[in-house]
Amino acid sequence: MNTTIGVGILGAGTVGGALVARLVDERSSIAAKTGLDLVVRRVAVKDLNKPRDFVVADGVLTDDRNSVIDDPEIDLVVELMGGRDLAGDLVLAALEAGKPVVTANKELVASRGPDLIAAAERSGVAFLFEAAVGGGIPIIRPLSESLAGEPVERVLGIVNGTTNFILTRMAEDGADYADSLAEAQELGYAEPDPTADVSGADAAAKAAILASLAFGTWVGLDDVYHEGIDALSSVDMAFASDFGYAVKLVAVAERLGTGVSVRVHPVMIPLDHPLASIRGATNAIFIEGPSVGELLFSGPGAGGAPTATAVLGDVIDAARETLAGAQVAPRIRFSPGDLVPFGDVPTKWYIRLEVDDRPGVLAQIAAAFGSAGVSIKSVWQEGEGSEALLLIVTHRAREAAQREAARNLREVEALRNVASVIRVESDEP
Ligand code: NAP
Ligand code: HSE
Repeated sequence: MNTTIGVGILGAGTVGGALVARLVDERSSIAAKTGLDLVVRRVAVKDLNKPRDFVVADGVLTDDRNSVIDDPEIDLVVELMGGRDLAGDLVLAALEAGKPVVTANKELVASRGPDLIAAAERSGVAFLFEAAVGGGIPIIRPLSESLAGEPVERVLGIVNGTTNFILTRMAEDGADYADSLAEAQELGYAEPDPTADVSGADAAAKAAILASLAFGTWVGLDDVYHEGIDALSSVDMAFASDFGYAVKLVAVAERLGTGVSVRVHPVMIPLDHPLASIRGATNAIFIEGPSVGELLFSGPGAGGAPTATAVLGDVIDAARETLAGAQVAPRIRFSPGDLVPFGDVPTKWYIRLEVDDRPGVLAQIAAAFGSAGVSIKSVWQEGEGSEALLLIVTHRAREAAQREAARNLREVEALRNVASVIRVESDEP
């Protein structure tokens, strides 16, 4: 029986380079374990002159992307270029040509997922993206297969390694933001354009994918409210620590009433919460359901080697299906559902105000919150006179009401600046 599968790879940077090295170096051990002979036929890159950490036979490395799709000896395509347009068109072409596709590209899946899944279904081939969320953590397969029968209620997670690495370095070592980002890039955690990481867009794409699989309702990248860590200050991180919180960038996807809310933003999270101790590029994802209770998936969320492991798992899965000659159906189907606007989501705020410390100021500030229907949980003052800072934590209220309170604050004459806002994740009201 023929067990050879020709593999074509688009992109050989951090993840693609690690994958090619594994496929070449571990070819015989993979064959011994799986019965599959995975042969790298072509690897497309942009710059043929760049040094590579892998060795392939002459002619395998190419700058002709289309040859990866067109080569009749390529049975399976792996997309590791990144981006949504060019990569998406190549993936679509491969699927339409009847070739299964594996990708780690969360931006692509979250923006063009339905079209690509439909194309895969038309051709009866697999479209797999385990590595698109959580790097080396198995999370897509558990959600779409093992938990397919669970009416998931909530997914909460740290899903971006770069930002968690930066926040950890800032909180634990007092490191500078720019230095920490440069270090994350050096270690291969960051996206080709790291703006996607620090702006929360990368986590938003992952949140969209997790939500779509968890709830069976398609949630696209543009449906996810997101904020990043670029506006966080070390002042707030220090206050958070003094008050018993860590600051983390989290993705939340939850059922609220009859709808679904999906969002990404920094939160202050109590130090005894399991997510507070997730350090460096590690990711962690909680899944809650009425029957299964709470599940936690954790592990390396970024970096070439762990991500290549997830890609390789998909390659083996798709190769098995190809050799079995099976007509592959999508692992999950999506039905229409309502998205809850972020303004309707109950949130708790920590807000840092720069004020003139004068009699009556606190009453005016309390009135600004009160007239928006937001109740204040606690207030701390730091400093005095024109250097005074008020640190306020509210009770839970609709996000829109919290924003109305912030707008009302503009009328308080002694308020010099709303210096920052961070939402608070806690079980308390
Ligand atoms: P990367 O290091 O920048 O690698 C991108 C690769 O694509 C490079 O080999 C590049 O060629 C090639 N490429 C780019 N544009 C091309 C074009 N127009 N034609 C041909 N080749 C092109 O990126 P990466 O970090 O490996 O990420 C790749 C994908 O994996 C992204 O979708 C990312 O979101 C995802 N991902 C990354 C990680 C991670 O930890 N890095 C984890 C999970 C998922 P050259 O080498 O010649 O420049
Ligand atoms: N840039 C991403 C991160 C890679 O830092 O999490 C993993 O998807």
